[in-house]
Amino acid sequence: MNSRREHFGSRAAVIMAMAGSAIGLGNIWRFPYIVGEYGGAAFVLAFVICSIFISIPILLCESVIGRRSHQNTFGAMQTLAPGTGWKWLGLLTVITPIIIVSYYSVVGGWSIAYLFKALTFQFRPEDAESVSGIFGLFVSSALPPVLCHLLFIGICSLIVFLGVKKGIEKFSKTTMPVLFVLIVLIAVYSLTLPGSGEGVRYLLAPDFSKLTPKAWASALGQSFFSLSLGVGTMLTYSSYVSSKEDLVLSGAGTALSDLVFAVLAGFAIMPAVFAGGITPGAGPGLVFETLPYIFAKMGDAAPVASAVVAVLFFLTILVAALSSAISMVEVGVAYLSEEKGVSRGKATLGIFLFACILGIFCSLSFGPLSSFRILGNSLFDFCDKLCSNYLMVLGALLFSVFAGWKIKKEDFLDELSNSGSIKGRGVLNATIYYLIKFVAPVAILLIFVLGLFG
Ligand code: PFF
Repeated sequence: MNSRREHFGSRAAVIMAMAGSAIGLGNIWRFPYIVGEYGGAAFVLAFVICSIFISIPILLCESVIGRRSHQNTFGAMQTLAPGTGWKWLGLLTVITPIIIVSYYSVVGGWSIAYLFKALTFQFRPEDAESVSGIFGLFVSSALPPVLCHLLFIGICSLIVFLGVKKGIEKFSKTTMPVLFVLIVLIAVYSLTLPGSGEGVRYLLAPDFSKLTPKAWASALGQSFFSLSLGVGTMLTYSSYVSSKEDLVLSGAGTALSDLVFAVLAGFAIMPAVFAGGITPGAGPGLVFETLPYIFAKMGDAAPVASAVVAVLFFLTILVAALSSAISMVEVGVAYLSEEKGVSRGKATLGIFLFACILGIFCSLSFGPLSSFRILGNSLFDFCDKLCSNYLMVLGALLFSVFAGWKIKKEDFLDELSNSGSIKGRGVLNATIYYLIKFVAPVAILLIFVLGLFG
């Protein structure tokens, strides 16, 4: 084991850091919407089934690879499969999160701008109708969103620069509990609004007829994106987990936190949206257009409460986005510092500069560079589709093949049971192994095909 490497200090730290990576924009603007689209509680059930049988096993396979090697993604492949082509998987999973963080940071920057707008009471009742149009004007302007992106990636890089314990662990341990408190407060407020019952019905009324194959594919895709799988973040974080930690418990704790947060986000958002008489949509529009409109309208009846909730809401998005972004930057920093021998400071600076530049072009692709198209997409959309639809899926598929077919079964089970010191889990661990070996690769290929033609 590499003795120079840092380790997370406790199980709570491991779960908070991993949950920090998992809980992000995907929980806030995607989960609540697709739950409503695909049959409410019926979809939540499908999501839980997909998580238990496919996503958590893949999370555990990244955990096993990371902790077994105590290396960055590239080093892990070199250590566990020396002299083979698997190193390319290591490299792929360094590159993907760096691309993702570049455009994720643009959205993170928007949340800084909207937090500022909320703090300076810019969502006023008299502006309710124009507030949603402001988003289009803001993202298509050149300088403000670029500056916000630079600020976001700057804060994120600073946290990573501080190190695994003093930066990532401290940030996650401080902010994750706060994030849960904030989302509960917003949900409680949202549920008290007149007309919110319709939103609760949208989220919960189970409609099993909507559980089509496409709904199942969406459930799997969502649980996958939400748990940050296939990009090496969970592998890298697990490489900082001590040999005594119980990987299965940490993985389950991470997945549970992610699910609970997603459901709470649903209760925070949908009741307010329905109370405002709006039909919800997914994506940036839900968070940066619909909700500011609702906050502005609510200002009529309860000016202070609506202003406070607006601030808390954009703060929640900012913190959730930051804790996901730091996990992506860490993958590249671990690679550069361990494989290329550069200091942590220089490695962080390198990733920061790359993300700054790609992010600037992604940000400008909403405005001045909107006519520049790649396969019919703006640069932002191209990067997002390339990573979410292809590179993440490919990464997860290859991780499951690697863990199921390349690593020896005994070694896999040995790591999962801490060399046999965790007793009484033989059947569970063997089941996890077979899910990774047979079920996960087939299921991933299935989402991929359904995503292409669905
Ligand atoms: N899990 C994050 C979310 O739900 O927003 C997204 C994400 C984080 C994707 C980290 C990829 C990643 F490496």
